[in-house]
Amino acid sequence: MDSFLIKGGTPLHGEVTISGAKNATLPIMAATLLTDEPCVIRNVPNLSDVRFMGKILESLGAEVSFHDHTLKVRAKKIKGVGDYDLIRKMRGSICILGPLLGRLGKAQVSLPGGCVIGARPIDLHLKGVKALGANVKIEHGYIIATARKLHGDSVFMGGRSGPTVLGTANVLMAAALAEGVTVIESAACEPEVTDLANFLVAMGAKIHGIGSPTLTITGVKKLHGAEHEVIPDRIEAATFAIAAAATNGEVTIKRARVDHLHAVIDKLVECGVKIERNNGSLKICRNGRLKPVDITTLPYSGYPTDAQAQMMALMAVTPGISIITERVFESRFMHVSELARLGADISIEGPSAIVKGGKPLSGAPIMASDLRASAALVIAGLAAKGMTQVNRVYHIDRGYENIDEKLRKLGGRVERIEES
Ligand code: EPZ
Repeated sequence: MDSFLIKGGTPLHGEVTISGAKNATLPIMAATLLTDEPCVIRNVPNLSDVRFMGKILESLGAEVSFHDHTLKVRAKKIKGVGDYDLIRKMRGSICILGPLLGRLGKAQVSLPGGCVIGARPIDLHLKGVKALGANVKIEHGYIIATARKLHGDSVFMGGRSGPTVLGTANVLMAAALAEGVTVIESAACEPEVTDLANFLVAMGAKIHGIGSPTLTITGVKKLHGAEHEVIPDRIEAATFAIAAAATNGEVTIKRARVDHLHAVIDKLVECGVKIERNNGSLKICRNGRLKPVDITTLPYSGYPTDAQAQMMALMAVTPGISIITERVFESRFMHVSELARLGADISIEGPSAIVKGGKPLSGAPIMASDLRASAALVIAGLAAKGMTQVNRVYHIDRGYENIDEKLRKLGGRVERIEES
């Protein structure tokens, strides 16, 4: 398993170009199952999760090719049974449920595992497809869903933690080929869901209310192939912006969708970071001493849970006390214990972490645990004095394309140690 060896204390300087959004790419890849015609998806990030989803589509019978950030998929003839071991390894694969039901009227997918950030239930996914007429049973670790013909209906998709992103995606994709009209209430409004909806419309789906909490889908008989360019990854952009602030640097982030980053920009400006916006790029520079800020993660357009750990790393090096409250997942503080190894002073009180920032961090060997926690550890290592070794960086390779290379281009002292 690879590690990163990071020599901290060097401010990041220069330009970085943001890759396509992982969390838009995965459901859009699943949506190609809805047609037997070829689809071309551009600006696809070269990530292990994307390659993995490609393997899942191939295990269902689709032809998949992926070169130079362009994905070509043709699901000419597919089966409704997904490879148990493949699917259970990646939570995001749950979003093949809706398209398989829509296309074939049957789906057999393994229950997605939980992960370190929580139980990750799928009750809302199942509620949604049942509302469209699917019979669902859970047997031997599989979700087995069948429907003679899906029919439109109204379904409320809000859960105890607000809307569900991939749950909305599943119902949206199933409804696209259902008979009649479906209204999804309390739909997730994340930009990645909007990107999926735009791809479905390009395939011939009839969807109104895109970007709003109420999506109205009029089912069609068939969807055709389409071409689409994936939106830039707002969480990667947030990660580099926070890294620039944490290292006292000056970084221009290119191909960032500023309209997807309002909550993150608002918090960075509140803590004293200088941000200049000019068409499609963001210039981030530290503007003297930073102030601590309080963060509460919320569904979009609130502060994104996927950028919570990264902000905690910044607050750990910012003098003062900040309170970071996680409202989307029940336990997303795996990074706290590892940040503490670098000297961060953080205590957890229920859904909140109280960060007493300002003591300089010092490098140490630490362990990545999940995708965004790993990003926080890299940011902390860049800001710490001395050497930090982040182990198990396969977590970070799931969601960031060549992050070590991008950081080196910004002057970051990051070396990848490949374990044979
Ligand atoms: C997506 O996960 C993202 N993953 C996550 O990003 C992101 O953190 C999350 O949305 C929230 O924005 C992908 O898009 C591949 P949810 P998803 O269903 O759809 C509860 C990353 O780091 N819930 O919106 O699985 C759930 O437990 C990853 O890139 C139910 O209760 O998340 C959570 O508390 C991590 N019942 C909340 O809703 C359900 O049926 C939000 O989960 C489904 C979810």
